[in-house]
Amino acid sequence: MGCAISGLGLVAKPVGDARDEDVAVPSLSQEQIDMIKESWKVIQEDIAKVGIIMFVRLFETHPECKDVFFLFRDVEDLERLRTSRELRAHGLRVMSFIEKTVARLDQPERLDQLALDLGKGHYRYNAPPKYYGYVGVEFIRAVQPILKEKWTAELEEAWKALFLYVTRIMRKGYFEEERNQRCNTLDSSRERPDKRNTRL
Ligand code: HEM
Repeated sequence: MGCAISGLGLVAKPVGDARDEDVAVPSLSQEQIDMIKESWKVIQEDIAKVGIIMFVRLFETHPECKDVFFLFRDVEDLERLRTSRELRAHGLRVMSFIEKTVARLDQPERLDQLALDLGKGHYRYNAPPKYYGYVGVEFIRAVQPILKEKWTAELEEAWKALFLYVTRIMRKGYFEEERNQRCNTLDSSRERPDKRNTRL
């Protein structure tokens, strides 16, 4: 018999996993969505720069995150990373995810699927949810100077809410993938003796 796992609801529900008890996915107001979209028009002009600043700062403030990256874990001098083509490419991938997120703010089902799949991917990258919150903090630090006087306390709250939303769903995806992998391992270890028998 296969491993029994209950399906995941995508939005606004506490998750069934023990580690996710009481973790609900927050929602954004229409006003916050509009503010984010407006500010993104300015931020997108500088996405490569923001991507690099964000990750160099992430590695400075939380060096344990650097160890998760096969490409960067052995780089001691973080200044070298500022000109690294690999970090630029990685930063751009993350910023392009944020761009897709902003584009899907009015299509919650598509946004949830995107973040859920990203969380599953992060299980495979060995990047656990306890680190995800740091990325939003560094994103906000990096974009504030770009938006200058357009940056307001309300806009900061809106971006924080978006990162909280996305990272909560990534977290669901991560644990869902962890359960799937565990079940696959269990199932294949149950199947193995039968397979051996058929070969005999
Ligand atoms: C808000 C939080 C985060 C977002 C939005 C994010 C986004 C992304 C995106 C878009 C990719 C590109 C690959 C893909 O689409 O699957 C990626 C890859 C990756 N991320 Fe994240 N990430 C986040 C947090 C983290 C953290 C905190 C770590 C490490 C502790 C991490 C480690 C990785 C690794 C190792 C890869 C694969 C790198 C590669 O093979 O190039 N991520 N991430």
